Amino acid sequence: MPSPAVLVTRRLPAGALKRLSEQFSVTVWPEERPMPYDAMIEAVAGKAALLTMLTDKVDATLLEAAGTGLRVVANYAVGFDNVDVASCSARGVMVTNTPDVLTESTADMAFALLLGAARRLAEGDRFLREGASVAWAPDMMLGVDVHGKTLGVVGFGRIGRAVARRAAGFAMRVVVHTRGHLPADAAAEKLPLDELFARSDFVTLHVRLDDGTRHLVDGPRLARMKPTAVLVNTSRGPVVDEAALADALARRVIFAAGLDVYEREPQVHPLLLESPFAVLAPHLGSATVETRADMADLAAENVIAALEGLVPPCLVNRELLG
Ligand code: DGY
Repeated sequence: MPSPAVLVTRRLPAGALKRLSEQFSVTVWPEERPMPYDAMIEAVAGKAALLTMLTDKVDATLLEAAGTGLRVVANYAVGFDNVDVASCSARGVMVTNTPDVLTESTADMAFALLLGAARRLAEGDRFLREGASVAWAPDMMLGVDVHGKTLGVVGFGRIGRAVARRAAGFAMRVVVHTRGHLPADAAAEKLPLDELFARSDFVTLHVRLDDGTRHLVDGPRLARMKPTAVLVNTSRGPVVDEAALADALARRVIFAAGLDVYEREPQVHPLLLESPFAVLAPHLGSATVETRADMADLAAENVIAALEGLVPPCLVNRELLG
């Protein structure tokens, strides 16, 4: 019997691909750019597993093109808003993600953006590269302090908590907005969302993208923030109304923003590109050598378990278990 066919939509760290290739017939999209949707539609026919990226749209049409042999969509990300989970469940297709292994790296990136935006690091870097001679002055490129301030964490899952732990090292007060319960040992105060925005010096977003969180940060909410406040987003771009944020930065409604994700990724709002008060990273939250290898291993484990008829370690649509 031929081995099950697996499509991997980008090149992955070698160890994970080797493990998959030892057991399955693996096709890897070889190019540097994301696999175009049309190419995916052609390539998925007859596949038992798809190992997908957050840049791939997995919708009902793609599932239809894959046919009835498809068992699992293993997303190489903790987020899975690119996957139509309901359509997968309706077809009995398992969906998996890669939680935990990227928590600390993503929290590091959130804190890097927080510090960089507060202390104007990207602006300072550009200043020197553009040939300016260093001209120390008492009022040159003043930022805002981080230590001792109030950090508002929106969404208190794994990554939100990891950011809060880092804040303790900066003697920050932590306030949290979460749909869930605050763990008893959390050194944090739970607040309604609008109060969190009003009281925080830094707001960091760690919610999943769904209908309830799209444009959670809009013009009115930005207007509640302190003029000295910094917004950090490492979750998903559409959680923030990007035009409203660009406008708030231009009008100095808030001090700065540190962004890793964008509403129309990979495009960035032109006014954000122009803003000296936005520190921009190209979705690098989990982008370390170690974490990307761990994510690949976990995604491969999810595929292997699913194709062996086992419950994958990171099954998203657990309703399939009945
Ligand atoms: C994820 O895994 O969802 C992250 O956005 C990847 O960096």
